[in-house]
Amino acid sequence: MDTYKIAVIPGDGIGKEVVPAAIEVLDEVAKLDGSFQFQWTYFPWGCDYYLEHGEMMPDNGLEVLKQYDQIFLGAVGMPELVPDHISLWGLLIKIRRGMKQSINVRPAKLLQGLESPLKNPHDFDITVVRENSEGEYSDSGGRIHSGNDEIAIQNAIFTRKSTERAMRYAFELAQDSRKHVTSATKSNGLTYSMPFWDEVFNAVKTDYPEIDTSVTHIDALAAFFVMKPQAFDIIVASNLFGDILTDLGGAIMGSIGIAPAANLNIEREYPSMFEPVHGSAPDIAGKGIANPIGQIWTGKMMLDFLGHSEAGTRVLNAIEKVLASGVKTRDLGGSSSLEEVKAAIIQSL
Ligand SMILES: NC(=O)c1ccc[n+]([C@@H]2O[C@H](COP(=O)([O-])OP(=O)(O)OC[C@H]3O[C@@H](n4cnc5c(N)ncnc54)[C@H](O)[C@@H]3O)[C@@H](O)[C@H]2O)c1
Repeated sequence: MDTYKIAVIPGDGIGKEVVPAAIEVLDEVAKLDGSFQFQWTYFPWGCDYYLEHGEMMPDNGLEVLKQYDQIFLGAVGMPELVPDHISLWGLLIKIRRGMKQSINVRPAKLLQGLESPLKNPHDFDITVVRENSEGEYSDSGGRIHSGNDEIAIQNAIFTRKSTERAMRYAFELAQDSRKHVTSATKSNGLTYSMPFWDEVFNAVKTDYPEIDTSVTHIDALAAFFVMKPQAFDIIVASNLFGDILTDLGGAIMGSIGIAPAANLNIEREYPSMFEPVHGSAPDIAGKGIANPIGQIWTGKMMLDFLGHSEAGTRVLNAIEKVLASGVKTRDLGGSSSLEEVKAAIIQSL
């Protein structure tokens, strides 16, 4: 039997509620499958840890995490007590960068039993591949002068290597999907980075003649997510564009509370990190009403990455069955608690 050592970082807010729920579901599917098991090790890193120790994780945190097969994370952020740039850069982004998790994958799919806020959602099934290591989220820039003359500069950094890596990953995914890749660009507004992005895309696509492609400006793409989401298969986007687009993806699915995500080290040299799209949701934390499906679906992505896609499909089927039966948290228009949704998914498994 395969045993996977997983580092668990529930983080803050609803992360502390949805992570244990998802772990129960994953343990159940492992038990039913019988060919693998999980060994979970919890780390109390996050904003509470920061308030006590002055850092989001210990100095040797990355070294510790390297000893695990994968990382399962909830959410980070307590904006009223710790500024977001400290909490996100001190933990989440530190891990993404330190473990070279250069690809962020975020599916958006209309699940059975869910009502999309779109009037005519059709049957959309989109995967956004987001470049996860640089781009607009580069720690490069500065501020000079204070007062009325103050200047803030934020540099966006695009390297050929990382841009190409994200695009190739998108093309590889498209091989097993509906064979279409859309590139999210904005070369009509950003005069250096995005023409470069387009150039790399045009070069990479020649290696995949069997895949259809299109290039769409990010603003139009956002509108198309609302007007005709069924038109997309795989989308490749820069760090910022992918980030924004996938919140929209969560919204058209019915709630950001169900949207899953994976930060992948595709070279498999370091652990990858699986965390839902949503944040720590301080407005509903501690009330037992958070939707655990984003975290559970994220667990399904971890199963897929570990090579247990049959178990992964089982989890997604169980989620869809439960939603179709009407057991839903409030963000989806239901009245069930987190515990009730989790129990129903385990029962359905
Ligand atoms: N990956 C991460 O750790 C991550 C991602 C986004 C935001 N954040 C952080 O989280 C904090 C809150 O950010 P925010 O409010 O902008 O985004 P958020 O995703 O936490 O919440 C946005 C809205 O969605 C709702 N929501 C989110 N997840 C839900 C769930 N599972 N079930 C039901 N409702 C859910 C919340 O109640 C809220 O109304 C901030 O500190 C932010 O920086 C962290």
